[in-house]
Amino acid sequence: MSKVYVFDHPLIQHKLTYIRDKHTGTKQFRELVEEVAMLMAYEATRDLPLEETTIDTPVATAKTKILAGKKLGVVPILRAGLGMVDGILNLIPSAKVGHIGLYRDPETLQPVEYYCKLPSDIEERDLIAVDPMLATGGSAAAAITFMKQRGAKNIKLMCLIASPEGVAVVQREHPDVDIYVAAVDERLDDHGYITPGLGDAGDRLFGTK
Ligand code: PRP
Ligand code: URA
Repeated sequence: MSKVYVFDHPLIQHKLTYIRDKHTGTKQFRELVEEVAMLMAYEATRDLPLEETTIDTPVATAKTKILAGKKLGVVPILRAGLGMVDGILNLIPSAKVGHIGLYRDPETLQPVEYYCKLPSDIEERDLIAVDPMLATGGSAAAAITFMKQRGAKNIKLMCLIASPEGVAVVQREHPDVDIYVAAVDERLDDHGYITPGLGDAGDRLFGTK
């Protein structure tokens, strides 16, 4: 069974409050999603391996540590996942970015794929699939399945807000994928929206509706 990490860092929780607030406009919403994604990436990369190196400071030679050259990748689930990418790349600029286009059919709530472009060496990379919302879990579970079908072996899922139902679906279908979230909300409503949630993440990011 995979693990679920809920980040209770005060900065993440503070910013998430303003992301949830319906009075927050598109510009501020987008900036906050990017900032929270960056803070979450900081927490979610705690397990990256380090190796020793030797450098010269202006004062002396020092044995220090650098990242051990792990190849990373970020895979936003379009559209709303795009809002998290730049925040993560601020911290990990060398990560490659793949894209999976999925939308949730409003009637059936089933994910429909319309685009997939992933790094060619995906099997060698540690990957973070990103989407602000994990609602029924259908979109994230399908995206992870597509990534695995194309060779991905090491995947984390990072979302701002999850429902208990969505967490259970991803854990059941992908027990090897750890889940990183800023909050697990109460439940889904009758339309498959997370309650209290933040509304429609894609529409709020891009000013559509
Ligand atoms: C939203 C969200 C997730 C999905 C979550 O995307 O960004 O991808 O719904 O729902 P699920 O867990 O029930 O599958 P949406 O389908 O609205 O598309 P968009 O990102 O293009 O707005
Ligand atoms: N997609 C969203 O953007 N928000 C939800 O609450 C559920 C699915």
